[in-house]
Amino acid sequence: MKRILVTGALGQIGSELVSALRQRYGADAVVASDIRVIRLDVEHSNGPFEYVDVTRARDLQDVVLRYEIDTVFHLASLLSAVAEEKPHMAWHVNMGGLYRVLEVARQRDCAVFFPSSIGAFGPGTPADHTPQDTIQRPNTMYGVTKVSGELLCDYYHQRFGVDTRGVRYPGLISHVAPPGGGTTDYAVEIFYEAIRHGRYTCFLRPDSCMDMMYMPDALDAAIGVMEADPARLEHRNAFNVTAMNFTPATLAAEIKKHLPGFEIDYDVDPVRQAIADSWPDSLDDQAARDEWDWDPQYDLETMTREMLEKLGPRLKRKT
Ligand SMILES: NC(=O)c1ccc[n+]([C@@H]2O[C@H](COP(=O)([O-])OP(=O)(O)OC[C@H]3O[C@@H](n4cnc5c(N)ncnc54)[C@H](O)[C@@H]3O)[C@@H](O)[C@H]2O)c1
Repeated sequence: MKRILVTGALGQIGSELVSALRQRYGADAVVASDIRVIRLDVEHSNGPFEYVDVTRARDLQDVVLRYEIDTVFHLASLLSAVAEEKPHMAWHVNMGGLYRVLEVARQRDCAVFFPSSIGAFGPGTPADHTPQDTIQRPNTMYGVTKVSGELLCDYYHQRFGVDTRGVRYPGLISHVAPPGGGTTDYAVEIFYEAIRHGRYTCFLRPDSCMDMMYMPDALDAAIGVMEADPARLEHRNAFNVTAMNFTPATLAAEIKKHLPGFEIDYDVDPVRQAIADSWPDSLDDQAARDEWDWDPQYDLETMTREMLEKLGPRLKRKT
C-alpha cells in the first residue's frame, strides 16, 4: 500500500480511516474522496482530496491514474435504513460503485478493501455465533448488495487475480463523525442525547441484541486485513469481525453507571426493527483471529467510558 484512495471518505468510517492511514503511510500517500464537499479547515485538510462519484467510471479512472493509486478502500455506499427507503438508488450506488471500483482495480492492478456487514445475513442465518460460512439470504436491499458485493469481490480475485479483501462489520460506534443512516445508529445517538439531555428515546426494542464495535478496532480491522500475509488467508473477503454484543437496555444500563440520572424509553420504528430482527445476535469471528490475528481491544465498559470522556467536554462546550 504505497498510494491509497479512500472512497466515501467523509462518512463515519472514512472520517477516521483517512487519518489513521495518513499517520501510517504519510499524508500525501492517501487520497480522500467523496461526492460531498469538504470543509477545508477541518476535514482531511492535511492531504489530497478529490471529488469522486463511484458510479462514474471516469472519476475513478482519472484519480487512480493521476495519483498512481495501488490500493482502494472502497467505503462509498448507502447504509441499511437509507437503502430501504431508496432501494433503486442503493443498488445503483452500492453495486454500480463496487463494480466500477473493481474494474479500475483490474485494469490498474490495485488491491481493494470492501466493507461488508452483518446485514449480509438474513432471517434464515443461525442467529447465535453466526459462523463464517453459513446461509446468507438477507431480505433487505442493503443485505442484497452486501452479499452480492462479497461474491463479486471473490469473483474478481479468482477470475482476474485482483487482491480483494474485506470484513463484515457489526454496528460501529464513534465520537468523530455521525452515523450515516444505519440500523445500529442508536448506539451512537444515545451518547449524544445522554450527555445533552439526560434521556434518549430508542427506535429499537430494549432486547434487540446485535454485535457492535468501537471505531479504533474497526480501523485496525480494515488495515489489519489489508496488511495480512496473503499466504495465510483462506477467506480473503467478508471476514466476520466483532468486539462486543449488547442490547439497547444493556447499553443504557452501562451509561447509567456514569450518568446516574440517565433515562431511556422506546418508540419502535417498525422498518429499522424489522431490519435488526433479520440480523444475527452474535458473530463467530474465529476465522479472522486464525488467519490474520484479529484481536479487538475495546469492550462495552471501555468503549462507554471513552465515548463519554471524549464527547462530554465537547458537547458541553457547545451548549
Ligand atoms: N457504519 C457502520 O456501522 C457500518 C457497519 C457495517 C458496514 N459498513 C460499511 O462501511 C462502509 C462505510 O460506511 P460509513 O458508515 O462510513 O457510511 P456513511 O454513510 O457514513 O458514509 C458513506 C459516504 O459515502 C459517500 N457517498 C455516497 N454516495 C457516493 C457516491 N456515489 N460516490 C462517492 N461517495 C458517495 C457519502 O457522501 C458518505 O460520505 C459502507 O460500505 C457501509 O456499508 C458500515
